[in-house]
Amino acid sequence: MIDVRSATVQFGGVTALKEVDLAVDRGRVCAVIGPNGSGKTTLFNTISGFVSPTAGSVLVDGRDVTRVAADGRARLGLARTFQTPRVDVEATVRETVLCGFLPSTRSGLLAALIRTPRVQREERRLATEVDELLERFGLEGHAGHRLSELPMGLVRIVDVARAMAMRPKYLLLDEPAAGLTTDEQQLLVSEIRRVAGEGVGVLLVEHNFVLVQDVSEHVVVLERGAVLAEGAPGVVAEDPRVVDVYLGVTDEDSALETT
Ligand SMILES: Nc1ncnc2c1ncn2[C@@H]1O[C@H](COP(=O)(O)OP(=O)(O)O)[C@@H](O)[C@H]1O
Ligand SMILES: [Mg+2]
Repeated sequence: MIDVRSATVQFGGVTALKEVDLAVDRGRVCAVIGPNGSGKTTLFNTISGFVSPTAGSVLVDGRDVTRVAADGRARLGLARTFQTPRVDVEATVRETVLCGFLPSTRSGLLAALIRTPRVQREERRLATEVDELLERFGLEGHAGHRLSELPMGLVRIVDVARAMAMRPKYLLLDEPAAGLTTDEQQLLVSEIRRVAGEGVGVLLVEHNFVLVQDVSEHVVVLERGAVLAEGAPGVVAEDPRVVDVYLGVTDEDSALETT
């Protein structure tokens, strides 16, 4: 379980998070929603280790990781995507997904340079696993395409595939559905469900409440850095305070509409 305990984050005079508690269980999808600026990305960064909380703590499977850097948390099984994918746009889809596997390869650099039989076996195993992931995410037709040639929606899906290549215990997704077509969103939703079904704990930071209702078991609503409401998606959607927050923002931001 990822356990965020009373996390507070201050940036100068701005309190981006206020005493937020959050739990992400293995095998379940937990969503964090809220208007722009409500602290979703800050909470996400606090969990993944890109932001240090001013107060409070983050535990992963019972271990306090509050002072563990992001790469250390990745080794503990946390994989994340970025709201703006941090990918090399000149790399191909295949190369990008392959990169996700690299931290888990076993051979040393010298063995890799002289391509020992073990390295060759490992390369074949990786090639097969990359193919499987590409197929699973509907990317096999794009394997040789550079990311610069793809629409942003597909780049996000490539980024999710790269994160899954790390075989994480927890998958943290920051607004993965932004810019996706309806079909791509459906693909993403079914992949998120499948990933959770395999025992991965998923934290989904998302603006689009329709997608959240579709895929998550538990929803946490942030407003101005604090938890406004939480519970099952159906319950949260009917909460008048939540409706207020969403009706108080611009049309573009209003994600509660179900049409
Ligand atoms: N690195 C930062 N430095 C200063 N202020 C920040 C920083 N990151 C976020 N904030 C502020 O913290 C608040 C929450 O931002 P953020 O977590 O990005 O919200 P969300 O992801 O919900 O849109 C906002 O007021 C934002 O301006
Ligand atoms: Mg954000």
